Amino acid sequence: MTNCKTRTKRNGKVHNPVRLTARVPGLSLMAKPLRSKPVLITGGAGFIGTNLAHRLLSAGQPVLLYDNLRRPGVERNLQWLQATHGDLLRVEVADVQNFRALRQATRHAFRVFHFAAQVAVTSSLQDPIYDFEVNARGTLNLLESLRMLPTPPPLLFTSTNKVYGDLGDVELQVSGPRYEPVDPALREHGFNESRPLNFHSPYGCSKGCACQYVLDYTRTFHLPAVAFHMSCIYGLHQLGTEDQGWVAHFLIQALENSSINIYGDGRQVRDILFVEDLIDAFLLAHEHMGTLAGQSFNMGGGPGNTISLLELIDLIAELQARSPALRFDAWRSADQRYYVSDIRKFSEATGWAPKVKVREGVTRLYEWLTESRPSASPKILPLNGVVAAGNGHQPDYHRRNAGRKPAPLKRLREPNRVNGKCTVKKLVKAP
Ligand SMILES: NC(=O)c1ccc[n+]([C@@H]2O[C@H](COP(=O)([O-])OP(=O)(O)OC[C@H]3O[C@@H](n4cnc5c(N)ncnc54)[C@H](O)[C@@H]3O)[C@@H](O)[C@H]2O)c1
Repeated sequence: MTNCKTRTKRNGKVHNPVRLTARVPGLSLMAKPLRSKPVLITGGAGFIGTNLAHRLLSAGQPVLLYDNLRRPGVERNLQWLQATHGDLLRVEVADVQNFRALRQATRHAFRVFHFAAQVAVTSSLQDPIYDFEVNARGTLNLLESLRMLPTPPPLLFTSTNKVYGDLGDVELQVSGPRYEPVDPALREHGFNESRPLNFHSPYGCSKGCACQYVLDYTRTFHLPAVAFHMSCIYGLHQLGTEDQGWVAHFLIQALENSSINIYGDGRQVRDILFVEDLIDAFLLAHEHMGTLAGQSFNMGGGPGNTISLLELIDLIAELQARSPALRFDAWRSADQRYYVSDIRKFSEATGWAPKVKVREGVTRLYEWLTESRPSASPKILPLNGVVAAGNGHQPDYHRRNAGRKPAPLKRLREPNRVNGKCTVKKLVKAP
């Protein structure tokens, strides 16, 4: 089932007319003139891909999404993008393991963002070979497709902080609801790119391997490419699960009145980055490709945007005016007690800095999930093209909330600090 906006493996040909639309005023970081060639986003139906596609499409840039729709629920993102942007969006439903389809998709790309991946550590423990085939081999397929082109378009690859391992050698101390490094320099700046690579878990290995290939293709074949070692990204269109996307997952659980499983003591700290800030960084990376190619950058909210699991629970309790139910369980394998990105290298190279603070970003995600998560709006809308699942999206959210600051949070009278005495129940196999 296809229409003018989509192409599947089955119909073979690209015949979509590219429609250029006017620039959307006020959109930051879309300074480039309109192009008729599409930006290719592999894994583009996912959380980060949808946000990037929306930014580009809103500025009149044609986009080709390449995604096998393996992640449950991403059809909703496609439906929303199609409803919002119409013909400017094209979709290729295919797997990055399919070299021929990938070659075809890269042929006319103006820029490439490679997000398609098996994204969860937990799933990688269950099926390391599949994880390798998608993350490592799939990335190599893409690199080879690009290398075969007379003038390869620039590539941005999203790696992970998991390439630094469990960071078990870093001395930590407890500070209330969070861990923090004993070393004051690490507390102030986080981990920089000189940290030795130490791949942990099959996911860490496959992403780390892919990342090394990406960087080497610049070194060896002069392919213009940049890699981000990303910490936790959160934001609209994120349908997080227990296995990936913990900020959204905690919020969804709370909204559904379901308990939240905490693996470990909940004092784990991450720097979280709102997806809009990440998109700014992506676009800047491409703009500065001439000087950045061949390098990797740690990318996250940085020391100014850190939060522990327990602190997020407190924030959710404020948002909902009640504490979510918790269950504590054993530590997960290779879980970093403390990871904060030192973002100075990328900031100094491009002038980038995150703008959305944790409280604002979490509140915006909470509001979006309140309206737009699947169970919040069961209505099914008609579909364009290949996608056949139900749609609960409410595109109006974006229009109504454009430029709006979140409502101030009410302070609860009772402290919501988690005391660690909640019932312990094994829900999933400890990895
Ligand atoms: N979200 C984060 O916090 C985070 C952190 C570090 C790194 N990353 C990396 O960023 C990228 C995007 O992450 P996300 O959060 O948007 O994940 P996501 O799961 O929402 O998106 C990934 C997309 O890839 C698609 N996909 C999966 N396997 C595929 C395959 N074999 N062929 C084609 N498409 C396939 C899925 O259907 C999905 O739409 C991933 O590479 C991930 O490893 C994300």
